[in-house]
Amino acid sequence: MAKIDEIYVNSSIYEVKIQFPKKPLASIKADLDKHKSERLKGFRKGINSGSAILLVALDKKEIIGFGEAIISKDDNSKAEATKIYINKAFRGKGAGSMLMKSLLGWLKGKKVSSVSAGIFAKNFASIGLAKKFGFEITAVKMQKTLKSSK
Ligand SMILES: CC(C)(COP(=O)(O)OP(=O)(O)OC[C@H]1O[C@@H](n2cnc3c(N)ncnc32)[C@H](O)[C@@H]1OP(=O)(O)O)[C@@H](O)C(=O)NCCC(=O)NCCS
Repeated sequence: MAKIDEIYVNSSIYEVKIQFPKKPLASIKADLDKHKSERLKGFRKGINSGSAILLVALDKKEIIGFGEAIISKDDNSKAEATKIYINKAFRGKGAGSMLMKSLLGWLKGKKVSSVSAGIFAKNFASIGLAKKFGFEITAVKMQKTLKSSK
């Protein structure tokens, strides 16, 4: 679990920095720390429950990435491919595709008919991966920073 969380934390920092380059590293790390126990609980659920899955990608028995998908509690025909994170040194070599293929295969086996994924707009690698597997952009989430007036 420690290795999975290490990959998640390092890749999340990278992902957030792509979208919010001015965001201080300390604040990204603090956010990640705040949600650590909840996150680990989620990873365990992916291993132990019938409605979620956590898969790892290995290179010579070492975990180099992981993927997670969760079936909706309210509607078990819908699911989210929540996470695919690959260690930096192993990106662009097909591991993300392998995980995505396996997650979608598992969801199909569970009779899921619709899968979504939430991705930062500037995360072109992740958007490319999703598009490669037939995902289409169906919504755009917008955000604005409000500065307090003095
Ligand atoms: C996104 C990520 C999981 C992709 O995994 P990967 O193992 O590098 O992906 P693959 O090598 O299987 O490539 C799959 C497709 O993704 C796209 N892709 C991968 N890297 C890309 C890049 N740097 N720029 C644009 N598209 C890219 C391509 O369409 C590629 O298909 P192709 O090689 O057949 O053309 C990986 O880059 C990563 O871990 N990024 C940091 C964490 C992250 O942002 N995770 C997603 C959170 S939503």
